[in-house]
Amino acid sequence: MSDDPRDLLELAVRLAREAGELARSGRQRALAAVGSKSSPTDPVTELDRATESLVRQRLAAERPGDEVLGEEAGSSSGGSGVRWVLDPIDGTVNYLYGLPQYAVSLAVQCQGRTVAGVVRNPESGEEWTAFAGGGAWRGEHRLAGSAVSTLDRALLGTGFGYDSAVRAEQAAVVAELLPKVRDIRRLGAASLDLCFAAEGRLDAYYERGLQPWDLAAGELIAQEAGLLVTGLAGEPAGAAMTIAAPPDLHAVLHAELVRLGAAGPA
Ligand code: IPD
Ligand code: CA
Repeated sequence: MSDDPRDLLELAVRLAREAGELARSGRQRALAAVGSKSSPTDPVTELDRATESLVRQRLAAERPGDEVLGEEAGSSSGGSGVRWVLDPIDGTVNYLYGLPQYAVSLAVQCQGRTVAGVVRNPESGEEWTAFAGGGAWRGEHRLAGSAVSTLDRALLGTGFGYDSAVRAEQAAVVAELLPKVRDIRRLGAASLDLCFAAEGRLDAYYERGLQPWDLAAGELIAQEAGLLVTGLAGEPAGAAMTIAAPPDLHAVLHAELVRLGAAGPA
């Protein structure tokens, strides 16, 4: 199979649909056995693992030379220069509680650069896609971010990590921001937050603590919608900080997050 981003996206979409359907239909089974990972508040279910395993099996059959990085099973070896980055269920807490805001997030990277990505909410059937240079899409609808350029008009999305000490610092940042913005949403799935910012359902999104599988697909979708996606002070988006916003709003939000030391102690 070719490494053309369009072909890679087509496969990513097919896999995200099948994986999303497995997660959605297996939810009752998932509720029976819930474990935890980095902290007691960080859940993992049998369906997180089964969904990741399904995608890995399909990729092993269709693209045996590719590397896969997944949240649940880590990194597998490759050799082709193509890497798939998967969060089988982004928004696991929502999934557990029956809140219809979770997603399969699947990105494809060639030589380290993300070239295609899909984020699919199996509950709503909404699906966001992008390939490099091809724009960002939800179905037939081409995405462009918000036109809001000032903080006082901005509806911000954010999220919190699972570590309680980090959460205390994140809460302090939110306490400073909240009086200055239209409002803040904590919807519970980073990949969907990025897609919502790409679509203008949120004016901007920021979060400390994202992992590659939370970020990779949504980052490309937001960028292809015209948003800037960065960390703080010239850093790329990543674990220390991710800000996704249209350029004018990005500038003011970035300045505020720098002022607040939102990436935490150095
Ligand atoms: C989490 C969600 C959440 C974000 C956390 C992520 P998970 O992913 O995306 O919105 O705030 O940082 O870890 O654990 O549900 O896959
Ligand atoms: Ca996950």
